[in-house]
Amino acid sequence: MQSPTQAYDDHAQSWAKVMEGINLASTHLELPAMEALLPDLQGRSVLCLGCGTGNECAEMLRRGARKVMGADMSPRLIHRARMLHPQIPFVLMDIAKLGLAAESFDLVYCSKAMHYVQDWTQTLQALHRALRPEGKMLLSTHHPGLWGGQINRTPDSLTKLFGYRYSDGFSNLEIFGDYFDNSMRTDMWRGGIPVHYYHKKLSSMFNEISAAGFRIIEIIEPQPIPAAKLLNENFYSLFTKIPLFLILVLEKSTH
Ligand SMILES: C[S@@+](CC[C@H](N)C(=O)[O-])C[C@H]1O[C@@H](n2cnc3c(N)ncnc32)[C@H](O)[C@@H]1O
Repeated sequence: MQSPTQAYDDHAQSWAKVMEGINLASTHLELPAMEALLPDLQGRSVLCLGCGTGNECAEMLRRGARKVMGADMSPRLIHRARMLHPQIPFVLMDIAKLGLAAESFDLVYCSKAMHYVQDWTQTLQALHRALRPEGKMLLSTHHPGLWGGQINRTPDSLTKLFGYRYSDGFSNLEIFGDYFDNSMRTDMWRGGIPVHYYHKKLSSMFNEISAAGFRIIEIIEPQPIPAAKLLNENFYSLFTKIPLFLILVLEKSTH
């Protein structure tokens, strides 16, 4: 089976279009919430992990960061990032095997990429080392309250279910989804792009985060911004009720 990351490189052209265009889950839900959490970046150094074609890196520079580095595992996406933003250094780097100098960044920004990494421990330990004292990490990932659900997809329908149904006088039980099973899930996005990601229950996220020495200082469950309603009313109604992403703000704790 393809690795989660390989699927991004194999379909890099399609992904580049998604990353550079209007993509409601990003542009009208996750990104506004992430940007609202950004600290003052004047004179700061920022690492963007899983940066895709580099838009978020350019935004960090616009906000006054002194140094920005983008990292991604897909050679094709990194190639495009270098073309679009020649002033920014981009490196091919696997989030699961980071090689970073100690105390070299003030902020790690990681948007929608941690769910491609099975075990966060090693990654978070490397990032803890790479952050300066009181450095922060801003990460968004799949909300486990949705992504642990059961997916039924046909060419013209999609059902995601998370829960259970007793029927026939309580003699028949159907269970939809498996929250407690931290495992790779497979799906097909955007009309045919295969994707594999790791579902992780909340307790595992929190345990791996604190084992690496981080303190969680804020948790956000973003909902669509009002402008999304004008573009796609179904998207707006759905994700004002069902959580799509989870955003965590982590602080390097030194004790
Ligand atoms: C959903 S995209 C998000 C891209 C960008 N952060 C954005 O919000 O537009 C996920 C990105 O993570 C990258 N990625 C997936 N697994 C990775 C890994 N193990 N190491 C580095 N990057 C990875 C993919 O290549 C892709 O660019």
